[in-house]
Amino acid sequence: MKIMIFGSKGYIGGHLRMRYPEAICPTTDIADAVGVASLLDEHHPDIVINAAGKTGRPNVDWCEDHKQETIHSNVLGPLVLLDACAKKNIYWVHLGSGCIYQGDKNGAGFTEEDPPNFFGSFYSRTKAWSDQMLSEFPLLNLRLRMPFDASNEPRNLINKLVRYTRVLDVKNSLTFIPDFLDVLDQLITKKTTGTFNVVNPGSISPYEMMEQYKKIVDPSHAFEHLTLDHLSDVTKAGRSNCILSTEKLKSQGILLSSVQDRVKEALETMHTKK
Ligand SMILES: NC(=O)c1ccc[n+]([C@@H]2O[C@H](COP(=O)([O-])OP(=O)(O)OC[C@H]3O[C@@H](n4cnc5c(N)ncnc54)[C@H](OP(=O)(O)O)[C@@H]3O)[C@@H](O)[C@H]2O)c1
Repeated sequence: MKIMIFGSKGYIGGHLRMRYPEAICPTTDIADAVGVASLLDEHHPDIVINAAGKTGRPNVDWCEDHKQETIHSNVLGPLVLLDACAKKNIYWVHLGSGCIYQGDKNGAGFTEEDPPNFFGSFYSRTKAWSDQMLSEFPLLNLRLRMPFDASNEPRNLINKLVRYTRVLDVKNSLTFIPDFLDVLDQLITKKTTGTFNVVNPGSISPYEMMEQYKKIVDPSHAFEHLTLDHLSDVTKAGRSNCILSTEKLKSQGILLSSVQDRVKEALETMHTKK
């Protein structure tokens, strides 16, 4: 199967490139309708994966001051891909985000049918807008959250948290990237469409992760508690803290290991690689 990956130079895109080394990886702007159409004409991919988007550097606060670039890539770009793939009847996959929710829905976790309820950052708003628009169409929309793995990449959540002196003690859903890649593989093989929360079952807080990091990887690591009411001391925009339901993924016969197990596994691998 011929796969085309947009955004292959990014963090998740790099993982996709490793998973699909034969994939075509253009650097065309996904919001350039003419450029995207001519690429599809030239290569005739069976599957298009959109891992392109503005996520901000060093973090999503960047999007607050770069709204035009952010909406261009996170809303206009996905709409151009939607149109271009529909015209050529190409199956495509969009990388959405679970950072469009706040809370745990009274313990149940947010399902794919729940409307977004977090609008505290421009990044999250653009992800919510595109999520809701795309949900009307037959593509595969995979929502990730705070992805992590055992790599030393700076955007791996574990490495991000290690750089912070204060970390939040609020439980969240997270995505272990190797599991995400397996889920993607299973769903694209069946050409599944629809929106899916691709997170590991259960939840964990950044603070708990750093406690484990200290225990397993680096006993000298120092960090402090950050409470939600002090979050605005260190961020410009709000941050989503949420728990997502994994029932829909289970209904596809996809059972992932718990987030607690995957965090421990990633930390043990990091320790071994040290
Ligand atoms: N990492 C996360 O925490 C996370 C969580 C949930 C969902 N996601 C979603 O997953 C996707 C990939 O995230 P990531 O972490 O891999 O982000 P990333 O490291 O910032 O990579 C995104 C890539 O897309 C490129 N890009 C931006 N706008 C583009 C455009 N208009 N046309 C073509 N390429 C463009 C970027 O290039 P430039 O650097 O030149 O802009 C970058 O190479 C995003 O949609 C993100 O919202 C990420």
